[in-house]
Amino acid sequence: MSSARHVAIIMDGNGRWARQRALPRAVGHQRGVEAVRNLVRNIEPMGIDCLTLYAFSSENWKRPDDEVDDLMNLMRKFIRSDLPEFIANGVRLKIIGDWQSLASDIVQMLEDALAQTAGGNRTLAVALNYGSQQEIARAAAKAAAIGEVNEKTIAAHLDTNDLPPLDLLIRTSGEVRLSNFLLWQAAYAEMLFVETLWPDFTPAHLQAALDQFAQRERRYGGR
Ligand code: FPP
Repeated sequence: MSSARHVAIIMDGNGRWARQRALPRAVGHQRGVEAVRNLVRNIEPMGIDCLTLYAFSSENWKRPDDEVDDLMNLMRKFIRSDLPEFIANGVRLKIIGDWQSLASDIVQMLEDALAQTAGGNRTLAVALNYGSQQEIARAAAKAAAIGEVNEKTIAAHLDTNDLPPLDLLIRTSGEVRLSNFLLWQAAYAEMLFVETLWPDFTPAHLQAALDQFAQRERRYGGR
């Protein structure tokens, strides 16, 4: 039996959750943030060192402007309201993706949150304006600049270079694809696709996923 140190989640299904209740999509995203908050409060007792969440992909800019605005505003609110709790609970915030090109007030807010949580002993990594192919291309370019391109030098330049190896990747809402998320890092990760819509995903669902992970035999290509 092994335990998962690094768990990543593609949080999918906010829109369907809202549609099923005849509510605006924005309410689905709000409830999605509540699900995030609830999980982050429980990662320590579950023995998770790092939780990586796909909050906004580089392809999400294609959504209508008002939905993009809603998601950015939720991010602002989330950082503002939850930062004191992260600091108090030893949660280190990390951002992956091309987040420096987001609105300048968000960049400022994130830089401040990163600095204030740097001493935390477990990590919440949030993927913002993230695309895995873009991340790999950036890392390969940096590896080329130092004159040595191989799997070690590329991995050393990925946004995730200071995170533990990815153990478990979960996607909610019944969709079975990776959508440009952690393609390199998922090389040996276990994957779990669950039907639950993201706003309904609770710490009990995460615990059930960890229990399934513990039953799997990982061979890393050996036998
Ligand atoms: C997918 O649901 C979800 C997203 C595109 C965004 C995920 C964002 C959050 C949960 C909130 C922001 C996160 C943080 C950390 C503050 P969808 O809209 O694609 O759902 P659908 O497929 O049912 O339409």
